[in-house]
Amino acid sequence: MCGIVGYLGSRKALPIIIKGLKRLEYRGYDSAGVAVLNGSLEIVKKKGKVSDLESAIGEKKLDASVGIGHTRWATHGEPNDRNAHPHLSSDGKLAIIHNGIIENYSAIKKELEKSGHSFKSDTDTEVLIHLIEEIKIQNKCNIEEAVRLALNEVVGAYAIVVLSEDDERTLIAARKGSPLVIGIGKDEYFVASDATPIIEYTSEVTYLNDREMAIMKDGSLTVKSLENVIKTPFIQKLELDLEDIEKGGYPHFMLKEIFEQPKSVRDAMRGRLVSASHSLVLSGIDQYLHRFTNAERMLFIGCGTSWHAGLIGEYLFEDLARIPTEVEYASEFRYRNPVIRDKDIVIAISQSGETADTLAAIELAKSKGAMIFGVCNVVGSSIARTADAGAYLHAGPEIGVASTKAFTSQVTILAMMAIYLGLKKGTISKSKYQELLFGLDTIPDKVATILGKAEEILEISKRFYQASNFLYLGRGYNFPVALEGALKLKEISYIHAEGYPAAEMKHGPIALIDEDMPVVFIATKDSSYEKIISNIQEVKARKGKVIAIVTEGDTEIKKMADFTFEIPSIADPLVPLLAVIPLQLLSYHIAILRGCNVDQPRNLAKSVTVE
Ligand code: AGP
Ligand code: GLU
Repeated sequence: MCGIVGYLGSRKALPIIIKGLKRLEYRGYDSAGVAVLNGSLEIVKKKGKVSDLESAIGEKKLDASVGIGHTRWATHGEPNDRNAHPHLSSDGKLAIIHNGIIENYSAIKKELEKSGHSFKSDTDTEVLIHLIEEIKIQNKCNIEEAVRLALNEVVGAYAIVVLSEDDERTLIAARKGSPLVIGIGKDEYFVASDATPIIEYTSEVTYLNDREMAIMKDGSLTVKSLENVIKTPFIQKLELDLEDIEKGGYPHFMLKEIFEQPKSVRDAMRGRLVSASHSLVLSGIDQYLHRFTNAERMLFIGCGTSWHAGLIGEYLFEDLARIPTEVEYASEFRYRNPVIRDKDIVIAISQSGETADTLAAIELAKSKGAMIFGVCNVVGSSIARTADAGAYLHAGPEIGVASTKAFTSQVTILAMMAIYLGLKKGTISKSKYQELLFGLDTIPDKVATILGKAEEILEISKRFYQASNFLYLGRGYNFPVALEGALKLKEISYIHAEGYPAAEMKHGPIALIDEDMPVVFIATKDSSYEKIISNIQEVKARKGKVIAIVTEGDTEIKKMADFTFEIPSIADPLVPLLAVIPLQLLSYHIAILRGCNVDQPRNLAKSVTVE
């Protein structure tokens, strides 16, 4: 989390930094700050959003052509002005911005205190800049060497940018575990947590690798490892459009992204599903077809919404490709000494491709010989680069903190993989294969049909937005959809919500049901239709309020539910792609009616690059 931006060139640094921070605000919004260097360091930092920082800057000129900025998601020390970045060294001549956690900060701090350092903030970050200062004095070395030596002493994750008053035309950046991209313009350099602050200025970028640092001076960029070995940066073209990161007439990114789904799902299939011949071309799998068809087990790892996509993956891979599958929270997997064999394939799912827990789980699985297949959205992200093979979502930037279009794209990719492997392994017939592909091809239009009825969801939302709890229930393929619906509501409306397999209700959650409890059933016409009708009856018998997502033309559930919302009919394995859409809309409208900030919900950040 945290967004960082740096600039060195001949333009005014401040507007570039502020604009960049606004684009990175999805990464954290506890506080924001800038430091510019024009003879001496000038710093302004403020609790709250980038707009609060702008007010704090007010009429101050901060006229400089080198500077850094930060938008924080607090890990160490509460969100206040004092803990906001940039942080300074004792003599005030060095400034740092940091994304990540310095895990051994406490031990380093004690040592530094013994040498006379005192600290103004509670952050781990301030300790790092004092360590750099101390090393610079003790070793009588220049700032880049001091940064390098200091980073060799720290444990943890970081992306940092350092400014030094004594080296005015220099930006020093380094990373380990947190993302950092360098934009190379004509006689200017940009550095940022992702490429969005850079796109107007240059399309030439280089991504720093772990344990690498970059030294940017006027006219020169040096990349080296923390072992002091010079590296040749791999410069690549940025493929990102400005309009992809703007709201395009929608009031919120989340709504824009929900409405983009007919296109993003189509983009996930582009070049992979050949409509004319109703066949699949999955080059990422073909490269390793033997390993896939001989895999003894699939292991899906991810966090949050990506974990929910993995859960659907489990149903798909077992149902269609008959491969034993497990789904793991990356954060648990990495610490529980899992059994991993070389005939296992680990499918790592991540929108951002930067989630620290998922990355660490990948490293662990890799070290035990498993093959890693990445399903990521962000091109060039750490997970995409670490995986042996993979498939990009091609969903375009997802900026709303609540994931929507990335989820449907992830499920689309997993469905294509399972269908493909099913055919290759002979576990589904050719006609089933064709039927499912035909179904997939209709998804974008069917999603558009659902979106065309968004008003109906708004009406349901008006009826329930003041509820304090929600239950989401589904069976089979719709169980993970229930989990995802509940997560969306929690994240952006702060209403407590739980997802459950509908049949589990009677083993506990049924105790919660009374006339104030809205229960969302995902009750499409599938193999467990009759069973879920019984579950609806059980809720009605206890006076719960039922909102049911049903298949077009359903008359039976209509008679018993308080509200129904129809979605087009589709084969069971593909239902999640449609059923989740009304749930995304429900959480969006409820959050808006409650006055919540849907794009930047409290306490959350888009990209969780800390443990
Ligand atoms: C989704 O709405 C959440 N904000 C969150 O659960 C997210 O899915 C999770 O942090 C994983 O992120 P990733 O897909 O970028 O790895
Ligand atoms: N650990 C730093 C802080 O708390 C940076 C946090 C982050 O990157 O999320 O300020």
